[in-house]
Amino acid sequence: MIPFSPPSITEEDIEAVVEVLRSGWITTGPVGQRFEQALAAYCGTERVVALNSATAALELALRAVGAGPGDEVIVPAYTYTASASVIDHVGATIVMVDTEPGAPIPSPERIAAAVTQRTRAIITVDLAGIPYDSRPLHDLLAGRGRIDEGLPHALGRPAIISDAAHSLGARLADLASGQIADMTAFSFHAVKNLTTAEGGALTWRADLPVDHDELARSIRVLALHGQTKDALAKSQGSSWEYDIVSPAYKANMPDVLAAIGLSQLGRYEQIVARRLELVDRYASGLEGSGVELLHHSVPGQRSSAHLAIASLPVDGPAERNRVIQDLYEAGVSANVHYKPLSLLTAYRNLGFSPDQHPHAHGFYSTELTLPLHVLLTDQDVDQVCSALVDALA
Ligand SMILES: Cc1ncc(COP(=O)(O)O)c(C=O)c1O
Repeated sequence: MIPFSPPSITEEDIEAVVEVLRSGWITTGPVGQRFEQALAAYCGTERVVALNSATAALELALRAVGAGPGDEVIVPAYTYTASASVIDHVGATIVMVDTEPGAPIPSPERIAAAVTQRTRAIITVDLAGIPYDSRPLHDLLAGRGRIDEGLPHALGRPAIISDAAHSLGARLADLASGQIADMTAFSFHAVKNLTTAEGGALTWRADLPVDHDELARSIRVLALHGQTKDALAKSQGSSWEYDIVSPAYKANMPDVLAAIGLSQLGRYEQIVARRLELVDRYASGLEGSGVELLHHSVPGQRSSAHLAIASLPVDGPAERNRVIQDLYEAGVSANVHYKPLSLLTAYRNLGFSPDQHPHAHGFYSTELTLPLHVLLTDQDVDQVCSALVDALA
């Protein structure tokens, strides 16, 4: 069976974890700090806060921009639940926008059309690892939305938060993912390009009008019960005493997990390069088959090649699902990314309905995601392509 997305764990990754286990300090501490610094250097940002998930990173970003009850936050309908559930968690109202016809992302104009006087923030999604260019939103949103205080006030527009769960290492010209949106949330979940088993990180543009130290400090406090000192700081000499300044979250990343990430980051450029090679091989193997891969080459843009999202020449979901079954029988594990949020019970219960997002539903109904990971050989890709062509025949 060609698996969909197994993790790539090397002996070096394992050694790094063993070293932390033997060190006497296994939760958030010195290795996590090194991981954060290495990530910030990789992204070209000032600060990174490592966390236990992208979901936590998104939620803390919303808290950092002041989103709460009475505010609206815009999110695309075509994404994973975590992009939207965090809006509900902070008590703000989810405003879901459709995608463009035939595409899984909304245009900046479509997002701008959903802005009201209550819009505090916008969550964009780097689907499949393709960086979303949110820069046109700066002009489209100028002076609009709820900009009475905090970061939106300093920016003079709603804050743009990137759900970059897929896109570590993606680039738009000389801007790496992390420097494109105002704030950026990465995921290091087991299936992601770079993994810490479970994990995530929050960073923000180097030129964001904030005090970087203060923002990093306030996010760390939010991620650790609202506590003014972490376990490492409390363990130094007699400095045990701390305060709890808000009834906050528990979302820090332990050093055992940071060790995996730090080790993987050392070879991350090779990981992305290989993934891009595999996408190219899919593109040539599927030429003329009627299958369209989402990954297109745009000058100056580099995807992190996280997901091989394909549109099939089929009638709809039933035929697409039959192709997935045929692939499975041919030894290929495939998947679907994503079921639009308005098809899911939780969002239907919040009042959303599929007919509000016809383009997202159109894209979903013929979508199929092919295996993409660094354990794939060129021959594996060729086998997937011929199994897919056979299934479609
Ligand atoms: C688009 C997107 N956003 C957010 C997440 C949540 O990431 P995490 O599991 O690290 O919270 C995922 C995870 O699969 C995702 O695909």
